[in-house]
Amino acid sequence: MKRNILLNPGPATTTDSVKEALLVPDICPREQEFGELTQAVLNKVVQVVNGESTHTAVIFTGSGTAGVEAALSSVVPPDGKILILDNGAYGKRAETIIQAYGIPYRTYRMVWGDYPDVDAVEAIFKEDGELTHFVFVHHETTTGMLNPLPELLELCRKYEVDSIVDAMSSYAGLPIDMRELPIDYLISSSNKCIQGMAGTSFVIANQEKLAKTAEIPPRNLYLNLWGNHSYIEKTGQFQFTPPVQIVYALNQALDEFFVETQAGRTARYVKSYETLLDGLEKAGLELLLPKSQHSKLLTAIVEPDSPGYDFMEMHDYFYENDITIYPGKGAKQDTFRVANIGEIDYRDMLLFNKLLLQYFEEKKIM
Ligand SMILES: Cc1ncc(COP(=O)(O)O)c(C=O)c1O
Repeated sequence: MKRNILLNPGPATTTDSVKEALLVPDICPREQEFGELTQAVLNKVVQVVNGESTHTAVIFTGSGTAGVEAALSSVVPPDGKILILDNGAYGKRAETIIQAYGIPYRTYRMVWGDYPDVDAVEAIFKEDGELTHFVFVHHETTTGMLNPLPELLELCRKYEVDSIVDAMSSYAGLPIDMRELPIDYLISSSNKCIQGMAGTSFVIANQEKLAKTAEIPPRNLYLNLWGNHSYIEKTGQFQFTPPVQIVYALNQALDEFFVETQAGRTARYVKSYETLLDGLEKAGLELLLPKSQHSKLLTAIVEPDSPGYDFMEMHDYFYENDITIYPGKGAKQDTFRVANIGEIDYRDMLLFNKLLLQYFEEKKIM
């Protein structure tokens, strides 16, 4: 099969074996065989973050936002209040969801690309005793920033608020160990660093915290976390029609993750990132963030101030060479973005670097 190098931040490049896993005999998802597959997938999803003894996964048909909306709409009680960290498009999206459900909230808003000030967040918790939950993004894909997960979780522990972490683009790419970093609700999807296909998202929930949400009057049906969880517990099946083939592919992707190991996957991604940075430096490009804040999963690059530069034209040049690059998304400076997740490695980045230099020379950029 033709291989495309996807440098957008997911859906990411997948292995041929994950693509082949889509091709399965037709099966009714109400059969026990599919129920067993679903259970195996849920267990493996939790195992990725070492949450077997404390956490359980709830899976939804839908893109990553479905998982975020499921968690946010389901876990805050009517008398609760949530703090939102907005330092990128996905923090902002959490706020939009909270507003749509009319849930009490306050937002710690920053310029997209600024690093969260943990003391300022603590001051909010000190001052506002009504806060019961805190939602933030682990890897803010808007800018490639890795937000300070351990420090923000420590505040949740200190002020006894439940943590909701959007780990959409970091789960399985960077190590997250629930035994050391006990996140109450972690959200991700099947098509980013776990290297499966788009079509499902999941919430990995602390079992005790999740059980308490049974008392919250549901604000919705399809995306209700407790409703979906209790149904699957009772019947072993998805509550609503699942994307059957996507679940088979996710199962294969999870197996491949465990063969590569978390350490192996992170090392492969980091090597690709370092190779990319080398090429960007040679091309004279400026990065949006200081290196200390980089996720090493996606890099936001300041757009060159040159008459020869046009993002869409550059995109098309790469696309003709089977490489997909990604535009910026409202950060404090205009950027384009290059991710290094999925089934790619440093050799793909070397090809990217070579084409970038060729293109810049041709267009007299820099
Ligand atoms: C951090 C983060 N959260 C949420 C989302 C939304 O996921 P989706 O576009 O699959 O709905 C994304 C997508 O890139 C993301 O990077």
